[in-house]
Amino acid sequence: MNIVANDSPADHFARLNGRRRAVRRFDGQPVSDATLLAICSQAQLAPSSRNSQPYRFLCVRSPALKAAIAPLCNGQAAARTAAALVVVVAGRPLAMETLNAWGQHLAGDCGLDQRSIAHHRAELKQSRVFLRIGVWPIWSPLVSLFTLVQPANSLLPLGRMGVRHWTVRSSLYAAQSFLLAASAYGLDTCPMEGFCAPKVAKTLQLPRDLVVPLIIAVGHAAADARCEPRWRKPRALAVELL
Ligand SMILES: Cc1cc2nc3c(=O)[nH]c(=O)nc-3n(C[C@H](O)[C@H](O)[C@H](O)COP(=O)(O)O)c2cc1C
Repeated sequence: MNIVANDSPADHFARLNGRRRAVRRFDGQPVSDATLLAICSQAQLAPSSRNSQPYRFLCVRSPALKAAIAPLCNGQAAARTAAALVVVVAGRPLAMETLNAWGQHLAGDCGLDQRSIAHHRAELKQSRVFLRIGVWPIWSPLVSLFTLVQPANSLLPLGRMGVRHWTVRSSLYAAQSFLLAASAYGLDTCPMEGFCAPKVAKTLQLPRDLVVPLIIAVGHAAADARCEPRWRKPRALAVELL
């Protein structure tokens, strides 16, 4: 990316954000594992609810596995030509895994003072309770009822589906950070939700309670990649100052 001397951080961000486009065809150049991992590390800095980081990036680079996944992406050229397909996976087991790792971190030489450790331990306990009782089957009919009364309740993180959606929401912040980080590394991406999720899950042998919110095609844009001028709705339709 062209970094202009004396760019302010805001200019720099605008350039980076402007450079990111959904690219539908890649040129076949590979992307190194080191670059992919560096981008994933940046994506991991994304915020997540309760710092639960309930996602994993499955970075598919092997030609055989790519060839198995690409046709499941509705025949999209982005998937067929990508150097790597990053399958974003989310779900409650991944949140539990984070909580366990966080607990171990707090129990070791974590460098935090006692007050912070006590705070995080209490938070951890709450998160564990939430993840345990939040999936009780009783919640699903209750949430449906609450939603009938007031549709704003439909996003409550309760019931198996509610908790699943809760994990998906956090995973998408990480996915967006991935897109921007890839742009900073001079790579191009296409976020895709056009794929056959059950077949992707089967191919990757995912456990039943993990879902795939997004697949990100990564690579270098082909010279003839379709990329129309960007259009966004007028700001007045997107933003209100209240
Ligand atoms: C959740 C999500 C799913 C998307 N799925 C696809 C997809 O399956 N195929 C595709 O070509 N683009 C997909 N896109 C890319 C959008 O079409 C693209 O972001 C939008 O047209 C704006 O263009 P820009 O990203 O270049 O600014 C998806 C984007 C998002 C955020």
